Order: sequence, then structure tokens, then C-alpha cells
Amino acid sequence: MKQYPMGDEYVTILKGISLDIDEGEFLSVLGPSGSGKSTLMNIIGCLDLPTSGEYILRGNVVLDLSEKALSHIRSKEVGFIFQNSQLLQRMDAMKNVELPLIYAGVRPKERHRRAEEMLCKVGLGDRMHHMPNQLSGGQQQRVAIARALVTHPSLLLADEPTGALDQTTGRQIMELFHELNGDGHTIIMITHDVNIARNARRVVNIIDGEMTEAEGEVTFA
Ligand SMILES: Nc1ncnc2c1ncn2[C@@H]1O[C@H](COP(=O)(O)OP(=O)(O)OP(=O)(O)O)[C@@H](O)[C@H]1O
Ligand SMILES: [Mg+2]
Repeated sequence: MKQYPMGDEYVTILKGISLDIDEGEFLSVLGPSGSGKSTLMNIIGCLDLPTSGEYILRGNVVLDLSEKALSHIRSKEVGFIFQNSQLLQRMDAMKNVELPLIYAGVRPKERHRRAEEMLCKVGLGDRMHHMPNQLSGGQQQRVAIARALVTHPSLLLADEPTGALDQTTGRQIMELFHELNGDGHTIIMITHDVNIARNARRVVNIIDGEMTEAEGEVTFA
């Protein structure tokens, strides 16, 4: 369960969430605006803790982990693609992608090599030194994806990765996700778009903080 304090009271955002995710899965969390998707993503990615209930990540009870252990998970194990790409505006594409590697203590030469490789992978080999405001929305989103992947995280968390994109660019991003999933990355993708959700092999619905597993045809209940 997740509650937030509001004045003298608490509002309950997540309740009745029960979810097992295996390594290598491509799961999509489908639900309307305000249903608790981003809140859930923050908990899965150890950016936030549940108010009650249990979250076990690779055998670890997350509520029992130290801040050091949590920050290790956030920087090494999980790649985040946030709802709006959240690039640093003063840095070019290359530097944005290098950032997680700086935090991880990777040497400059190796950093450049890996950032370049990842930008090429998302189709931005010819835009590496553009600043975010010189890139289209879709290109910025792809920089954010490259940044999320550059540390080779085992778990990729993507919050509305195609929310701001046209259909063609959205499809390209989905192709990239399929490729990444084929390479063994676990992907949890959050969306309110049933057509995007269909890309995942498994879909769960979240409505008003409660979760139901979609069976058979995916519908927007
Ligand atoms: N820090 C907070 N304090 C109080 N309420 C919050 C806080 N963060 C989120 N909420 C509430 O929790 C609910 C779920 O928010 P959340 O961001 O998880 O929704 P969402 O499903 O990601 O929506 P969207 O599709 O619009 O991004 C909302 O009603 C929101 O107002
Ligand atoms: Mg959200």
C-alpha cells in the first residue's frame, strides 16, 4: 500500500497490488491518468518505499535495505525512462547519456565509447553533440532511453515512453524495446495507451490504485 499525507489525513494511492515479475519479462502496466502508475514505478525502482506491504527485489526485502544498498540498486540495476525525458538542458546528448556512468565511476574513455554506442543504437549517431533544445521530442526521448540503458541495467522501467511521440517514432521505440527484451532485459512499461500496452507479453491493469491482470484480449477496463 502507498499513502501520502494530505493535511491531517492520508490519501491511499496504491492498494491491493500483488504482482510477481520474473527476470526477462516484458510487462506493461496499463491504466488511466491518476491511477497510480508512476507511484508504482517509483516503488519498483526503489525511488520510493511502500507505506506497508512487502516488496522483494531479487530476494531482498526492500524495506530492510540500507540507503547505500538502495542507491546501488538505483544506479546499477535499474534504468529509468521518466514520463518527460528529463534531460539536463545544459548538456549535449552525449553528456546526458554519460551521466549515469560518471556516477558509476566509469573512466572518461570508456564512458565516451559506451555513450556513443548507445546513441547509435537508438538511431542518434548523427545527433550526439546536439543540445536537448536542438532535438525533436522523439529524439529527446531516445536520448533518455540511451541514458537509461547505458549502464546495462537488468531492469528497465519506462513511464509512458511513447507518450509524446508520433506513431512512427513510437513504433521504432517499441521495436527497440522488443530487441532489448530479446537481449534479456526485463522491461516494465507504463502506459495509458492500450495499443502500446499490446507490445508487451503480459499486461496488468491498474485502476484507482488497484490491480487486475488482463486475460486474453487486452481491454481498457
Ligand atoms: N506526493 C504526492 N502527494 C499526494 N498525492 C500524490 C503524490 N504523488 C501522487 N499523488 C496522487 O497519487 C495519484 C496517482 O498519481 P500517479 O502519478 O501515480 O498517477 P499516474 O497513473 O502515473 O497518472 P498519469 O497517467 O497522469 O501520469 C494521483 O491522484 C496523485 O494526485
Ligand atoms: Mg504517471
